[in-house]
Amino acid sequence: MPHEIDKDLPAQLSADEAALLAQMPALHDVGTSRRSFMMQTGGGGIGLFAANLLATESALAQMAPEPGALSASLPAQNVVAVNFRVNGTPQTLAIDSRVVLLDALRERLALTGSKKGCDQGQCGACTVLVDGQRVLSCLTLAATLEGREVTTIEGLAKGDQLHPMQAAFIRHDGFQCGYCTSGQICSAVGMLGEAQRGQVSHVTGDVGKTTTRLTDDEIKERMSGNICRCGAYPGIVAAIQEVHSGRQAAQTWGFATETQLASARKEDGHATV
Ligand code: FES
Ligand code: FES
Repeated sequence: MPHEIDKDLPAQLSADEAALLAQMPALHDVGTSRRSFMMQTGGGGIGLFAANLLATESALAQMAPEPGALSASLPAQNVVAVNFRVNGTPQTLAIDSRVVLLDALRERLALTGSKKGCDQGQCGACTVLVDGQRVLSCLTLAATLEGREVTTIEGLAKGDQLHPMQAAFIRHDGFQCGYCTSGQICSAVGMLGEAQRGQVSHVTGDVGKTTTRLTDDEIKERMSGNICRCGAYPGIVAAIQEVHSGRQAAQTWGFATETQLASARKEDGHATV
């Protein structure tokens, strides 16, 4: 609640300073006497403090906003219409020209399988396929995708039939928390396509000789843009190698049986259920 100005406050307060003091909380709100605060601080001190504060506020109020500054309350600008296909379905979006594909997928199309990790092209969690090639959707403007075909992790499986790469990741335990997994799988699918087209990598021994046979080192290098904070790399490489070679390996893990669970509970001293 605004206050009357104490009559015994320093007389040199300007009108602005007086207005500022009038807006300070009531005495019982702050638990101390405004008068004693003023006495401790000194009239000259508070005058300087108030003047500085007012000057700062005034300067901030007069600053023009940065042209590119983002704000949740800003209206969409430069709205463009984009027609593209996502997982085989035609989509038309009217979006701000600055919107990246990752946000369009997650916020406009409710396809939340693609994850936002770093949002600056460092982690690979947002990897999707555009016309079969892997891209970082956090660095791809949705407005550039007119007429293109986008495939996300949601579009790899055919109904209940998992994509071979998804099935291999499960067989080889290629994930723990799963946050990076959609990006890893999309990236792996795109990477195998690159290898089949004869693209070389930083560790390819002879770049003059086309090789489509990927060693583990080739896979690690080509997947180095996809970070896994859980460190599931051995399973990821094994899964990709399996799909690449076409030789399906046996699943490396299995669910415990009821007998095994009961035995484990007994060993741990828990009552069986
Ligand atoms: S969120 Fe796109 S690279 Fe990390
Ligand atoms: S499985 Fe957790 S980040 Fe890769």
